[in-house]
Amino acid sequence: MECSWKTVLLLVCASLGVQYTAIRTLRDSLSGPCRGEAGYSRWAALCDDSWMPFEFPQKHILLFATTRSGSSFTGQLLNHHPGVFYVFEPLYHVQQAFTNSSSWLRRLDRRTLLGAHRDLLLNLYTCDLHFMENYIRPETQDHITSSLFRRSSSHALCSPPVCLEGADTAAFEPPDETWCPKKCGPLNLTLASMSCLSRGHVAIKTVRIPEVGDLRMLTEDPRLDLKIIHLVRDPRAILTSRIMAFSDQFRAWKIWNATGRQPRYVDLSQITSTCNDMAASVETSLQRPAWLQGRYLLVRYEDLAHNPEAKATEIYRFVGLEMEDRVRMWIVKNTNSNVSTSSEWNYKFSTTRDSKVTAESWRLRLSFDIVRTVQSLCNDTLALLGYRQVHSAAELRNLSHSLVEHRIFQPVT
Ligand SMILES: *[C@@H]1O[C@H](CO)[C@@H](O)[C@H](O)[C@H]1NC(C)=O
Ligand SMILES: *[C@@H]1O[C@H](CO)[C@@H](O)[C@H](O)[C@H]1NC(C)=O
Ligand SMILES: *[C@@H]1O[C@H](CO)[C@@H](O)[C@H](O)[C@H]1NC(C)=O
Ligand SMILES: *[C@@H]1O[C@H](CO)[C@@H](O)[C@H](O)[C@H]1NC(C)=O
Ligand SMILES: *[C@@H]1O[C@H](CO)[C@@H](O)[C@H](O)[C@H]1NC(C)=O
Ligand SMILES: *[C@@H]1O[C@H](CO)[C@@H](O)[C@H](O)[C@H]1NC(C)=O
Repeated sequence: MECSWKTVLLLVCASLGVQYTAIRTLRDSLSGPCRGEAGYSRWAALCDDSWMPFEFPQKHILLFATTRSGSSFTGQLLNHHPGVFYVFEPLYHVQQAFTNSSSWLRRLDRRTLLGAHRDLLLNLYTCDLHFMENYIRPETQDHITSSLFRRSSSHALCSPPVCLEGADTAAFEPPDETWCPKKCGPLNLTLASMSCLSRGHVAIKTVRIPEVGDLRMLTEDPRLDLKIIHLVRDPRAILTSRIMAFSDQFRAWKIWNATGRQPRYVDLSQITSTCNDMAASVETSLQRPAWLQGRYLLVRYEDLAHNPEAKATEIYRFVGLEMEDRVRMWIVKNTNSNVSTSSEWNYKFSTTRDSKVTAESWRLRLSFDIVRTVQSLCNDTLALLGYRQVHSAAELRNLSHSLVEHRIFQPVT
């Protein structure tokens, strides 16, 4: 057992640290950063008269999705609105911090990890970007970090006041992981907090919360006004995209796809739980619990890909924002309204966009045998979300035959 007394001591200190920060944060958010005890230097900059926080209660948006379901693309629709402070997958850092710890901690139960996730979301929604310092590795120095995950995906973190160099030129480009740190230098988390406080909406994208039920505490938190955009996608497409993006992890699937023979060691559990989690969330929403009323919108990625502007307008209406020209221009530049489907962003981690790849391209990339297996594992989920099953390879490859049933998903009221 590698769990030495040092590890234990470290953990106790870490957990005290987290609690201390949480209490401090709570106190700050209740009393306001400038009315608390004098000389609380971390927030001193906020008490400067030249800087204006947003005057009305802020609104909070969670883009709630699963890996490879089109969430980077959908997140960009929100990111390009000037009134939105957008953070791309902050929970990555929680996961990193926990999985890099000692081995027994790795077996951390689901509830503990969820608690950490919710804490971080709550603190980011209340614009305490410093809370990230509990998780960012290597540790921040003077509240400055060069290690924020996918910083370039956030317009707010790469433009004034956070980055004086970050003019609007980059706004219409697909995010490139390196330009922002190169241009802006390390991220000053105090400035990031100020930028957050000056905008009306705080939007966070995550693929690390399993079910919508896990968000109940946040929807009920009186400090937040949370709207959840639940992004789903055909699980057959999700799987294809994962196989292509994470080829090491999905080697067995690749072999299956290429040879037509299912390797015994292929792991069916991941796609099964993706399907079960999606279905569980949708089923919860169909019961219209009070804690989701006015707070939940189901969006199928396929609908967004087929009709990005109309769907984006619907999303904007749901979160209480007007569509902006900047967002419209971004859509035109980043989708291809030519083909029957629009292009998707097929970059692995925001590198290049393959405009030829369409939302339905998975149908040409997955063997019928695999498709049939996923269909039986995800039978209920497909039905619930309006995705048709195919019964032959010919039907699978025939793109004139749509597998997306027409469905209208209204916000939960
Ligand atoms: C996790 O540990 C690995 C190996 O020790 C190291 O290379 C990596 O940088 C660590 N990551 C974080 C986020 O601490
Ligand atoms: C970060 O920004 C704040 C607010 O402008 C400033 O007071 C602080 O000195 C900056 N930190 C560093 C290390 O530059
Ligand atoms: C649509 O794309 C095809 C091939 O990618 C091209 O030949 C055609 O001219 C385009 N049509 C329009 C209206 O842009
Ligand atoms: C599956 O195999 C086909 C051809 O055999 C190939 O075109 C396709 O890219 C493969 N799909 C994946 C996800 O690797
Ligand atoms: C999916 O499940 C339903 C009932 O739950 C069943 O009627 C249907 O035959 C199943 N379809 C497949 C392809 O297994
Ligand atoms: C492809 O699907 C369309 C629409 O369902 C159908 O009319 C057509 O006959 C199919 N083509 C083939 C080759 O099966």
